[in-house]
Amino acid sequence: MTMEGAMTLTEGPAAHARPVYQIDRLSKTYARNSLTALTDVKLTLHKGEFVSVVGSSGCGKSTLLKIMAGLLPPTKGRVVLEGRPVTGPRDDIGMMFQQATLLPWKTTLQNVLLPIEMRQGRSAAKAAIPRALDLLQLVGLGDFANVFPGELSGGMAQRASICRMLISNPAVLLLDEPFSALDELTRDFMNMELQRICAEQQATAFLVTHSLAEAVILSDRILVMKPRPGRIVEEIVIDLPRPRTLEMVNTPHFGDIVAHIRDLLGKEAFQ
Ligand SMILES: Nc1ncnc2c1ncn2[C@@H]1O[C@H](COP(=O)(O)OP(=O)(O)OP(=O)(O)O)[C@@H](O)[C@H]1O
Ligand SMILES: [Mg+2]
Repeated sequence: MTMEGAMTLTEGPAAHARPVYQIDRLSKTYARNSLTALTDVKLTLHKGEFVSVVGSSGCGKSTLLKIMAGLLPPTKGRVVLEGRPVTGPRDDIGMMFQQATLLPWKTTLQNVLLPIEMRQGRSAAKAAIPRALDLLQLVGLGDFANVFPGELSGGMAQRASICRMLISNPAVLLLDEPFSALDELTRDFMNMELQRICAEQQATAFLVTHSLAEAVILSDRILVMKPRPGRIVEEIVIDLPRPRTLEMVNTPHFGDIVAHIRDLLGKEAFQ
């Protein structure tokens, strides 16, 4: 079986779409310990594209994501989203972390509305209720709008936080190991949900993950990072057809792509 399709640096399916995120010559040195976490990162995300980043622990993935989200200033370089430099948190950026971080004293619906309430006030949040309910329906939580997070399973809480991320129609989804706390079956389900939501919303997504299978099943491109200092060393275009299905994981081609990335990562490896 040839690996040509997966390995070449030819451009992916979304390569001809409009650039959404443009990152150039990005470096980050943490002042506290003079640690260079990132050096010379160059990256373009196109409209509707799904890109993952993999690399060993401490290689700078979260640092990159936080800079892209406007939560951390870069030391050098530029981050431009939809033609405007990112200088702080923005409505058009949705972020999701490893933990669901729902507020326990608010219902699922109130949690989903929270970003709108915080940024635009109570009446804007009220006006957004129909959209929040639509989103909850989309992820199969239509009947759980009025329950509190304590009554949701881990996977349901993750799905609720996907809705909270999507409520402000972000142009970009930045995902930092969002499903790593879930069991394998729930995680498979969430991966397929994420694919469906991204397709329906035409969202552009950037995912940090330690699971190579998750990166391959979801992505148009995978960026491989190496540490000290953190940098992107390789880009792999994933040529599996869309929509992706869980059955693809068992094909020889899928296995070849995962093995190729594992080789690139070397001994610092992964699961
Ligand atoms: N606030 C900080 N101050 C100083 N150094 C930091 C800070 N945050 C991260 N670092 C350092 O920057 C490097 C990259 O950290 P980062 O969290 O980006 O790694 P990561 O690739 O996300 O790792 P993991 O896979 O374990 O989540 C590490 O060496 C870490 O010690
Ligand atoms: Mg991290």
